[in-house]
Amino acid sequence: MNSLTPRFWEIFFEVFEDLPRQGPGSKTCASEALALCRGLPESPAILDLGCGVGGQTMYLAELTTGVITAIDSHAPSIDRLRSTVAERGLSHRVVALVGDMASPGQPTGSFDLVWSEGALYSIGLRNALRVCRDALKPGGYLAFTDSIWREDNPPAEVKAAFDLEYPTMGRLEDDLAALRDCGFEPVGHFPLPDEAWWDDFYTPMEARIAELRKKYADDPEASALLDKVAEEPEMHRRHSGYYAYEFFVARRPAP
Ligand SMILES: C[S@@+](CC[C@H](N)C(=O)[O-])C[C@H]1O[C@@H](n2cnc3c(N)ncnc32)[C@H](O)[C@@H]1O
Repeated sequence: MNSLTPRFWEIFFEVFEDLPRQGPGSKTCASEALALCRGLPESPAILDLGCGVGGQTMYLAELTTGVITAIDSHAPSIDRLRSTVAERGLSHRVVALVGDMASPGQPTGSFDLVWSEGALYSIGLRNALRVCRDALKPGGYLAFTDSIWREDNPPAEVKAAFDLEYPTMGRLEDDLAALRDCGFEPVGHFPLPDEAWWDDFYTPMEARIAELRKKYADDPEASALLDKVAEEPEMHRRHSGYYAYEFFVARRPAP
């Protein structure tokens, strides 16, 4: 089955837009990464790139007193984030914008912290790292997650999945080299623990898929596409030892 048909994306978004977040991550991990950003100003200016519906944007709003600009190219996700922000009375601290992270339209050198969970690879990691560097004040921090290979020679199913989604995915040392080449000093990194894949991401995803299976019980095409979406958490159950999501924290050197 060609998984990239318009119907696939319709079903894909019907699953994903409803989730608390659109990739692995957790508040605990965000807090750990934030702790590596030593010496941030009291209320940092934060740019959250590829924010999705804002799972980590809300963690950042809770964990800091900063002002957050959150950008995503998928308008329905930004609509949902705007509703969350309004419900929580955070409109004075969180601005959600539809935009392309390749050209975020923000003043150069204006952020203390650039954050991005599971999104930078979408425009090519090195390209994205240069965008992040330009957005940061000298001495500012970048915190991002990226998937990496843990083992060579993954099973064919795993290789095929990442060849489709992230064909240039590298190993830990490749991302560290990319950071250095793009003008960052790596500060620290750690892999996301398994609960960061499941609690706010794959568990709600499987629940949402189960809900939609009922809705589409009489629609064989939609049911087959739901099977396809369900392959990702299944693959993770069987083969998570072959890949990881790594949280990286790096600094744009001060002059
Ligand atoms: C894997 S999701 C992660 C979302 C969120 N950071 C999270 O962890 O829940 C990747 C996000 O990047 C967004 N994205 C992809 N390419 C983008 C681009 N060029 N500019 C802005 N957002 C982009 C997608 O719409 C999606 O919401």
